[in-house]
Amino acid sequence: MKLRLWFTLMILFLIYSILVYVYSDQHGQGSSPSGAAYAGWMVWQEHNCHACHQLYGLGGYMGPDLTNIAADEIKGKPAYLKVFIKYGSANMPDFHLSDLEADQLLAFLKWVNDSGHSAVAKESVHWSGTYIF
Ligand code: HEC
Repeated sequence: MKLRLWFTLMILFLIYSILVYVYSDQHGQGSSPSGAAYAGWMVWQEHNCHACHQLYGLGGYMGPDLTNIAADEIKGKPAYLKVFIKYGSANMPDFHLSDLEADQLLAFLKWVNDSGHSAVAKESVHWSGTYIF
């Protein structure tokens, strides 16, 4: 009896996995960053900004979510962002980034802002748990 239940659950899990695999791809039509934004993404990964910051609500929680910071009237200004990115703060490390790396990170944050929102609306969540664009 227990074995039958185990097999039923395994089969359901398998069907669910296949459906998620097949359908999630149809909804993920967002484009990948290119050029300066791609370079900024690499800088982002190299310095592990994600350990403290979230994008789309996911990531570390020591610093704020940066998904839509580029669209913020005050914080989105390049001068504001660059001060943090180049020099850190009392709570954020100074990574001694070059001007070029800071500009690339700005391009990446702009790309992230254009690609989605940190607060995911209920109707944007597909039943499989993936995001509907
Ligand atoms: C050790 C944790 C940590 C890491 C790693 C980190 N940050 Fe931060 N960051 C913070 C904290 C904490 C704040 C808030 C700082 C404050 O208010 O003093 C912050 C603030 C910021 C801000 C300003 C946000 C705002 O709302 O004012 C930007 C932009 C930023 N970080 C970008 C980055 C980037 C880009 C990287 C990677 C190169 C990075 N951070 C890596 C902790 C971190």
